[in-house]
Amino acid sequence: MKRSHSSHSSSPITPQTTTVPLSLPDHLPPSSLPIIPYHSKIVASLDKNDCCVLTSSTGSGKTTTVPFLIYKEHRLFKEHSKLKVTCTQPRRVACTSVASYVSSLCSVPLGTLIGYNIRFDNCTTPQTVISYQTDYMLLRSSSSSYGRLFPEYGCIIIDEAHERSLGSDFVCSLVKQAMIARNYPRFLKDDSDITSLSSEIKSLRRIVRKRKLPPLKVIVMSATISSETFSKYFSTPNMQAKVLSIPGKTHRIDVCYLSEACEDFVEGCVEASLRLHCSYEEGDILCFLPGREEIDSAVYMLRKLLKEREEEGKSSYVSEDKVEEVKGKNINVLTEPTDGAVVLPLYSSLSPSQQQQIFLPLPANCHRRIIISTNIAETSLTLSNVIYVVDSGLEKKKVLTQTGVGVLRTEVISKASAVQRSGRCGRVRPGLAIRMYRELEFEGFKPVQRPEIEGASLSNVVLLMLTMGIKDCINFDFLQPPSEKKLLKAFHTLHRLKAVNDSMEITPYGEKMSKLPVDVEWANLVLKSEGYGCVKEVLTSVAMLSAENIFYRPTDEREAAKAAQKHRRFSSFEGDIPSLRSVYETWEKETIYVDPSLPNVAKRYRQLQSSKNLKIPSPEWCSRNYINSRSVAKAHSVRFQLHDICKNLYMNVESSCGSEGYVDYLKCVCEGLSHQIALRSVVSSDSSEGSSSQRPQGKYKTLSGIEVNVHPNSTMFQRNPAPSAVVFTEIIVTKKTYITGVTQVKKDWVTEFHPDR
Ligand code: CDP
Ligand code: MG
Repeated sequence: MKRSHSSHSSSPITPQTTTVPLSLPDHLPPSSLPIIPYHSKIVASLDKNDCCVLTSSTGSGKTTTVPFLIYKEHRLFKEHSKLKVTCTQPRRVACTSVASYVSSLCSVPLGTLIGYNIRFDNCTTPQTVISYQTDYMLLRSSSSSYGRLFPEYGCIIIDEAHERSLGSDFVCSLVKQAMIARNYPRFLKDDSDITSLSSEIKSLRRIVRKRKLPPLKVIVMSATISSETFSKYFSTPNMQAKVLSIPGKTHRIDVCYLSEACEDFVEGCVEASLRLHCSYEEGDILCFLPGREEIDSAVYMLRKLLKEREEEGKSSYVSEDKVEEVKGKNINVLTEPTDGAVVLPLYSSLSPSQQQQIFLPLPANCHRRIIISTNIAETSLTLSNVIYVVDSGLEKKKVLTQTGVGVLRTEVISKASAVQRSGRCGRVRPGLAIRMYRELEFEGFKPVQRPEIEGASLSNVVLLMLTMGIKDCINFDFLQPPSEKKLLKAFHTLHRLKAVNDSMEITPYGEKMSKLPVDVEWANLVLKSEGYGCVKEVLTSVAMLSAENIFYRPTDEREAAKAAQKHRRFSSFEGDIPSLRSVYETWEKETIYVDPSLPNVAKRYRQLQSSKNLKIPSPEWCSRNYINSRSVAKAHSVRFQLHDICKNLYMNVESSCGSEGYVDYLKCVCEGLSHQIALRSVVSSDSSEGSSSQRPQGKYKTLSGIEVNVHPNSTMFQRNPAPSAVVFTEIIVTKKTYITGVTQVKKDWVTEFHPDR
């Protein structure tokens, strides 16, 4: 029954112009979720306290029921009919999938009374009373003093707070400020004799009094044992944060460890999953690997092994004809069952429809899902039927190197995460978790996850604080104050980009930058493009980079070869960024077709913009060219929004360099990414790297001295001769250190942008 609800979410989003007034039901459909018996206790304690910290195990019903419960039951919403509830999430996929699930439970169209708001995709309207949004979106709505009081909300729920993402930590700080400003004893006419309030909050309180804002209730929700951090933080001399721990219902979970360390964790996990599949009774297997790369190769290996098993006749759920039929298709081959199982990848850069596949019912000839996931399935998403967990003990974390370059690095998880991961298998019946490490290693894991604020760049947060008028970043009441060095590093970056002046005050250029909802470095690139006369081309490039996963790369060998051949058509000699641009430009030239069964984003977008002559990616064009149509649709929508923002900034958005101005465009990209340049390492011909026929194939060193290799998916991979200087968009560390988004630039430019070299 649960599944049928989830499958609603893949249905197209209905337009928001309904004539019949909509209303929410009084109750959600009855269920046996562990949180239900505690509902009245939650409402009562939020009545007595300003803040509640709610903990319970994953799947107990926090995310789906608490926002609805508070909206329907708390008296604040009866007294102030305009107030709304919002629930923040660190991940986009959690916002979209939960919002669609809850709106289907309430039988209201998604985007009406219940909606979601994620970057470049706002599915809310003025009538929305319960919204799920990313931390980031809530932060962006608070860029004025009035906005910092979150006036439209009566309750803000900060979900998955234990993950300690940079955004959610910062949301905690801002929400705490707003809570104090809105709830501090209201009888006081002015606060001049209260010394415990900072001047920031005193100035916010003046607005509260003037606008007569009602109180703000706060709920912090988390799955693990970090409640104390939050209850301490949200308690002030006048306000107490109440902790509510709800016991979950879990069955026994057997945990086993390896007796010896495994050599290759991807192969190890594949083998363990296969062994579970071959010898254990039905029930889904959830395998945790750190990132997309590892997941793609594990999915590939598993599918191949399952096919081999099937062909050897160990099991024959699928007929020969079926296999042939499957081979002929491209997209659907992903989900065809083999040997009675479907192998499904799950990571955030998959398209929403690919992500939704984990919720679809199993086909008749199949009795098991094997889901290979990043820690996206650790807490954000609830998978109903998992009985077995295979845990690599690893995750991808963005960390800053000494010199401030952001690197995606594979790191060991925390004990709390390991417990959380194994906890995913005991929901429906006793489960089994296989930890692909030794017990001794587990004992050495850090107790809880490292807050992202320790590793990530703070440039965007600091810029946001400056636009909000928070001047004293060093003494700001952070949940966990970052080191002064890191704050200075952020100021240094903003100063390099001229977003702040020598007195560290925000400049008009910085204000402009903050309007663009992308990383400061990309914002700078967009703004710089006007000077090079290539705004059009840069907007396309940035939009395509934001969309991710443009090229569809099948795992099936024959299909992969076909895809590679099709992709060659877009491949630019200059590298990956121009190649992405070429996909978009070719699509624009070759498709004006508007399909009625468009993906949600594009469809809604079309409805919104029906007056404008819009081009929508034809699914047929995309599938013929092995391009992910949803990604192109997303890039199109991102581009449109960036274009609008630039227009509002009085930029000449029509400025285009055309094909003659290629050099200007590349130079602009080089300036925008001048902090991410890599130079080819000089390898002598007799080096141990290979025989003389094997010329150096793109071994590079970044300006900060990191040795990197061009990623195999890059158009620059094994380019011979390899260009002497490139810019890149990301560093990924797996078995090797790779750069992606590799684009050729002139060495002279490197000296121009780094005169000290
Ligand atoms: O937030 P918490 O981990 O406590 O649980 P939840 O996300 O509210 O999920 C409660 C239940 O709703 C799950 O056990 C799932 O059965 C169901 N659910 C679903 O079927 N589809 C979704 N997209 C989300 C939740
Ligand atoms: Mg949840």
